[in-house]
Amino acid sequence: MTSSHFFFHSLSLFVIFLIIINKVSQVHAIGSVFNVQDFGASPDGKTDSSQAFLKTWNQTCQNNGGGTILIPTGTFLLNTLTFNGPCKGPIFFNINGLLKAPLGKCKDDYWILFQHIDGLTINGEGSLDGQGPSAWSLNNANGPNPPSSIKFNGMSNALIQGITSINSKFFHFQINKSKGVHFQNLSITAPDESPNTDGIHIGDSNDIIINRVNISTGDDCVSIGPGTSNVHISEVNCGPGHGISIGSLGKYQNEGDVNGVIVTNCNIGKTQNGLRIKSWAPSPPSKVFNVTFDNINMNYVENPIIIDQHYCPHSSCKNEGDSQVQISDVKFINIKGTSASKEGVVLDCSKSVPCQGIELRGLELTLNGQQTTTATCSNANMNFFGPQTPSECT
Ligand SMILES: *[C@@H]1O[C@H](CO)[C@@H](O)[C@H](O)[C@H]1NC(C)=O
Ligand SMILES: *[C@@H]1O[C@H](CO)[C@@H](O)[C@H](O)[C@H]1NC(C)=O
Ligand SMILES: *[C@@H]1O[C@H](CO)[C@@H](O)[C@H](O)[C@H]1NC(C)=O
Ligand SMILES: *[C@@H]1O[C@H](CO)[C@@H](O)[C@H](O)[C@H]1NC(C)=O
Ligand SMILES: *[C@@H]1O[C@H](CO)[C@@H](O)[C@H](O)[C@H]1NC(C)=O
Repeated sequence: MTSSHFFFHSLSLFVIFLIIINKVSQVHAIGSVFNVQDFGASPDGKTDSSQAFLKTWNQTCQNNGGGTILIPTGTFLLNTLTFNGPCKGPIFFNINGLLKAPLGKCKDDYWILFQHIDGLTINGEGSLDGQGPSAWSLNNANGPNPPSSIKFNGMSNALIQGITSINSKFFHFQINKSKGVHFQNLSITAPDESPNTDGIHIGDSNDIIINRVNISTGDDCVSIGPGTSNVHISEVNCGPGHGISIGSLGKYQNEGDVNGVIVTNCNIGKTQNGLRIKSWAPSPPSKVFNVTFDNINMNYVENPIIIDQHYCPHSSCKNEGDSQVQISDVKFINIKGTSASKEGVVLDCSKSVPCQGIELRGLELTLNGQQTTTATCSNANMNFFGPQTPSECT
């Protein structure tokens, strides 16, 4: 063996050694397994297992090096629950069965809250049933928010994968004040007409990844609220629902900016909107900038591309006035497919802070594959590149 061969041989041995060390440490991280049934949880679908889950959480969270909370198959009834950190190591919340929410109204804005935890993995082939049908008719736009199925507050380094969320009472997943949350290989479903059942709602958070998630629901598939930066959304199948949305913004004073959103390789079908940015009017000032939508397929979407800075549902805005949310540097690249209405592109920006640097690059949006759609733009500074169907608006 020459010395360079020897060097590479040693190097590959060293790499194998590193891989083994890495595997061993992973095994160690999930080494301690705490089965909820050992703490009194019952898979019979009738007994409230909340206390048993809390005991399991406490034990696992306080275990040096963390551990796995094992939820076997079966149906577990759970009341409103809070799983608090910090914990003494990474936690794996392994759902194999079905977790069922209580019927009807709840006092909090979550069913299950994970809070102040660094290094949580939620995985398994199990499901969460929010029992939404028992609560949707009770939702009141002026009352407190109904519960999201899972809420994350002050989390860092979380991974959610494999599970299914059905029929949330409000949002399926809500992320607040968190950093580094990764959703992957999930399925999220609720009926088309269910109110406010956003798939994943993000607010005041950064470094969020959503990859390979199928979302059919009654509201936005993903909604990005104020104070959010660095969001990567890819390979999402969205529909029915209201599409992928930045906003609503400008509802409250002192909202944080939205900076750095990338949405790529997604399919959006039979939704009310495709790609949307919306802000209330009137509204206090904030900013949205550095947003890229690239390679998105639309299938029978009512408003494939829409910026709406005059958002005001249920005629609740009485004052006159413009939105002060400044939208800039937004790219729509390779957006193709069919619209369900004549309106392919609607950019309705604020008169007092017009949209800046809106790039449309390669659009092919037709009505049922044949007729072209229309583009209407107001108060928008635009750049066009490549083919444009609908043709450029002025
Ligand atoms: C879990 O721990 C918290 C905080 O230490 C405590 O308040 C709570 O009573 C514990 N719950 C159970 C079910 O052990
Ligand atoms: C995705 O999740 C499903 C359901 O939990 C699981 O069966 C499948 O193996 C996962 N696929 C990948 C590629 O992780
Ligand atoms: C987000 O978390 C902060 C800090 O815990 C809290 O004050 C705020 O009310 C939360 N917001 C939402 C929407 O839950
Ligand atoms: C999402 O839908 C696609 C197409 O139907 C399917 O191939 C894929 O397995 C689904 N993924 C999940 C996580 O359900
Ligand atoms: C724009 O957003 C992307 C994605 O979050 C980020 O990587 C990049 O640094 C941002 N660019 C600027 C100029 O802020």
